[in-house]
Amino acid sequence: MRVANLNSDNSVIIKKVIKNAGESMNNVVEILPNKVKDMSLSKLGRYQIDISEKEMPGLMSLRKQHADKQPLAGFRLTGSLHMTTETAILIETLKDLGADVRWASCNIFSTQDEAAAAIAKTGTPVYAWKGETLEEYWECTLQALTFDGNLGPNLIVDDGGDATLLIHKGYELENYFNEHGNYPEITTTNPEELVVEKLIRKVHKLNGNHWHNIVPDIIGVSEETTTGVARLVQMEQEKKLLFSAFNVNDSATKSKFDNLYGCRESLADGIKRSTEVMLAGKTVVVCGYGDVGKGCAQSMKSYGCKVIVTEIDPICALQAAMEGYEVKTLESVLDKGHLFVTTTGNKDIITLEDMRKMRDQAIVCNIGHFDNEIQVDALNDSDAKREQIKPQYDRYTFPDGKQIFLLAEGRLVNLGCATGHASFVMSTSFANQVLAQLFLAKEKPEVKLYNLPKELDEEVARLHLKHLDADLTVLTKDQADYIGVKVEGPFKKDEYRY
Ligand code: NAD
Ligand code: ADE
Repeated sequence: MRVANLNSDNSVIIKKVIKNAGESMNNVVEILPNKVKDMSLSKLGRYQIDISEKEMPGLMSLRKQHADKQPLAGFRLTGSLHMTTETAILIETLKDLGADVRWASCNIFSTQDEAAAAIAKTGTPVYAWKGETLEEYWECTLQALTFDGNLGPNLIVDDGGDATLLIHKGYELENYFNEHGNYPEITTTNPEELVVEKLIRKVHKLNGNHWHNIVPDIIGVSEETTTGVARLVQMEQEKKLLFSAFNVNDSATKSKFDNLYGCRESLADGIKRSTEVMLAGKTVVVCGYGDVGKGCAQSMKSYGCKVIVTEIDPICALQAAMEGYEVKTLESVLDKGHLFVTTTGNKDIITLEDMRKMRDQAIVCNIGHFDNEIQVDALNDSDAKREQIKPQYDRYTFPDGKQIFLLAEGRLVNLGCATGHASFVMSTSFANQVLAQLFLAKEKPEVKLYNLPKELDEEVARLHLKHLDADLTVLTKDQADYIGVKVEGPFKKDEYRY
């Protein structure tokens, strides 16, 4: 069943005056119970959730450990993270721990509609479907951030930082307006930034103090991914952070598992489901050799591909070389690659001019968080003719007749063309998310960027060993003393890199 529509012109943002604590406030959004593609998919979604729960031992044991104490009771929690089956299990864990949850996806293509329907069916407000427009996407983020009575969240689970960004942008606009009595000129030509600028102006017209009203109630955000953490680090350095932040990505049990082993399987899944191409024997150019790049390169090698890596960091470049990959500049291999994968978290990695120089039938995709790794807007505005083979699979023909294929419109290929990482590895990531939320709720720490303590990182790993029949060796006291650790850990210094 389709529920009430959010229009792409943001027309659901209606002015509604409510009384709160004796003060009149304008509600910035008409609160919908949910907005998903098709509620009839909920049964399928529930089957997938049931199956995946068995593959998520970390999350399920945290549920068991904490549910009776209800540590998140009384907390309003907003999530902005790919609305997949695995995320459904995270949502149900946070609810079991007592939180009042609202959710949106963090990418326009990454929602599994059946998972979203299953969550909506339980009465949890979820705003996500596969194939949102940018306007719908940001409208969904605003819905997830707006609780009854025009309240905001106390806690945020973010992936890539978009929920955090909307709050900070809205807050900045209010500051500017209060100082100047008008809005700053919109100078950006970036389509997505334009959508955000328009949305925060619309919110401002409905309630000129909305973000200042909600920020004091926000305890903090736990951030899932490398790119979102990079944004937070910049904000902290510029002293712009309005609430505490927890770096989930840099737990060893997140970045050394999800980014690496997750992408090692889900990259190929995305490529295969969209293109069905034979990988063996092909030349694959992997741009970036960080955690994600390492997983992608290894995956492609295991399929029998010749893998070429591009890197800017000499340490990562040397690692790639010593794994036996060729390390080259992109320019020098544009005519060699059958497949190009960007994994950098950086922008303009593959430019329009690069794409013109690729061999005929080259496949281009990105697995980094944002789509600006590939110059997709420039490609769409260029003289190349675009044909959609199927959703998230496009062919471009250049005037000279050469053709290239672009997957997921340059957005993360594993979530746009497939269903992201498998459940087991997401259990390690999401166990970190739950521990981060428990920390924020309990400690209400001062505004800073935090990391998970090593003991808990090790605990997350421990929760997953039995599932893989792995038996841990226990140190003797004598051995522990000899290497200077406690028998029960932690076993490594904070700086250890794994
Ligand atoms: P990372 O920092 O470990 O690795 C990125 C690498 O790219 C670095 O080694 C850096 O030196 C290199 N790099 C930067 N600019 C470059 C350039 N111009 N050319 C070549 N190399 C360049 O980050 P990561 O953890 O590997 O994450 C990479 C991206 O993937 C981020 O955007 C992250 O948020 C995202 N991510 C996606 C998924 C997914 O499921 N799709 C999962 C985890 C992380
Ligand atoms: N990121 C990568 N894979 C994912 C998944 N299956 N669910 C949520 N986020 C993800």
